[in-house]
Amino acid sequence: MANLLAKKPLNLIMSEAHETGEHSLKRALGPGNLVSLGIGAIIGTGIFVLTGAASAQYAGPAIVFSFMLAAVGCVFAGLCYAEFASMIPIAGSAYTYGYATLGEIFAWIIGWDLILEYAFGAATVASGWSGYVLSLLQDFHIHIPPWLAGTPGAPFVMYNGRWEALGRISKTLAAKGIDPATLPHQSGVFNLVAFLGIAAVTTILVIGIKESANANSLIVIVKVTVLLIFLALGGSYILKHFSEATANWTPFLPPNEGEFGKYGWTGVVRAAGVIFFAYIGFDAVSTAAQEAKNPKRDMPIGILGSLVICTILYILVAGVLTGLVKYDTLNVPDPIAIGIDKTGVRWGSLLVKLGAICGLTSTMVVMLLGQSRVFFSMSRDHLLPEWFCTVHTKFRTPYISSICVGIFVAIFASVIPIAILGELVSIGTLLAFVIVCAGVWVLRRTDPALPRPFKTPLVPFVPIMGGLISLLMMAGLPGDTWLRLIVWLIIGMVIYFFYGRHHSRVQVAEMTGEPKRAPSMAD
Ligand code: ALA
Repeated sequence: MANLLAKKPLNLIMSEAHETGEHSLKRALGPGNLVSLGIGAIIGTGIFVLTGAASAQYAGPAIVFSFMLAAVGCVFAGLCYAEFASMIPIAGSAYTYGYATLGEIFAWIIGWDLILEYAFGAATVASGWSGYVLSLLQDFHIHIPPWLAGTPGAPFVMYNGRWEALGRISKTLAAKGIDPATLPHQSGVFNLVAFLGIAAVTTILVIGIKESANANSLIVIVKVTVLLIFLALGGSYILKHFSEATANWTPFLPPNEGEFGKYGWTGVVRAAGVIFFAYIGFDAVSTAAQEAKNPKRDMPIGILGSLVICTILYILVAGVLTGLVKYDTLNVPDPIAIGIDKTGVRWGSLLVKLGAICGLTSTMVVMLLGQSRVFFSMSRDHLLPEWFCTVHTKFRTPYISSICVGIFVAIFASVIPIAILGELVSIGTLLAFVIVCAGVWVLRRTDPALPRPFKTPLVPFVPIMGGLISLLMMAGLPGDTWLRLIVWLIIGMVIYFFYGRHHSRVQVAEMTGEPKRAPSMAD
């Protein structure tokens, strides 16, 4: 009988971490690259899209508090990730931490769960990305037929001479009293735009980690600059028209309307659950631990640095946005553009589209990178077929893993309507946070003497709070999302019991009494 709680010995993990040579991943990333990877994953749909709806529907200007609350939960979880990532500098992130501390079955659950965060996350983001690309191309009079720009059956209508996804403009049409049925319409068949986006990102990832990180850094500069321009334009408008801003900020915390989550403090909590999506991604830095030059020092810098920078940016953007326009007008797909329009700058909406496209591109880069590295690690442990961990001799990237993930995500993004899956991304990420927080505490008790280059402060307070806040945010998600999570985990269990359990390197070593050692590529 296999030992489902078998742990992967830390000495084995460490020997894998120290491997060099053409079959190992290339240690090419410095602290700047890692912070930029984190920002690359973090800033995306959340700030460019969700801020408006969450403020308009739940929190009003107090969305600023929601950003603070979600940040506290993420910082606690981030501190736990930083301890593990500096101590176990290997590619698998939460999966590997789970294997070292809680046992194989938990490691498998986390690895399987991370697919929700990274692969489904990339597919969800690719879908939103294609919408922005379509819109930007139309600004330059390039029209892609809707059947090549949407998933099967996704409705598009022709409005003001442009093809628009119905979901995106239905509120605008309703406000103007226009019945969408009276407009020319078509349906999507295959979202080629999203497919090509994922294909392009996958190609960069196969070519090299340094190339991917450089491309990511360039994109990150553009999207951060867009947010800084927004802050500069918005901030100076507010200083000149301070009484207008004060009126928009009043009441700062709109009174609760008698229902949980509809303004008031419960609204702040609900909005925090929604905009939590905006913070997802800092943990993806830890998947690149095996490609960091000095992971012990730089992993905490990458994880916590990117989180702190984004938290400050988000709080400022939310404050300026709600000062520029009344919160109840912000329930639109492009709230930041509405804010810039208010300053009288005409190129604002073009700028925001550029920022959003860059934002979403780098989120796709880091999510796909994360997914391929998690598969790489699972395959090295033989919980997945071994070809997933083949490293390209020239590029030194796990190219088969990257290509498989790329194909899966590209097809997924182009044919499956994935709006629903956005919440699965959040619940999957939060579950990983809970397990990582628990893992830090467990390992402190079971192996207190282990060298920890970065130590999470105030253990067990920080891991407990990180886990509890994550559980609280999970509890706020709809029952359907929980059901889908459970179904997903059951599918994972079936695969584990039919495949992983029988092939697991750790199990085989335990049963045969074979000495535990780092697998060599010749195996
Ligand atoms: N944090 C990422 C975003 O907001 C996932 O798109």
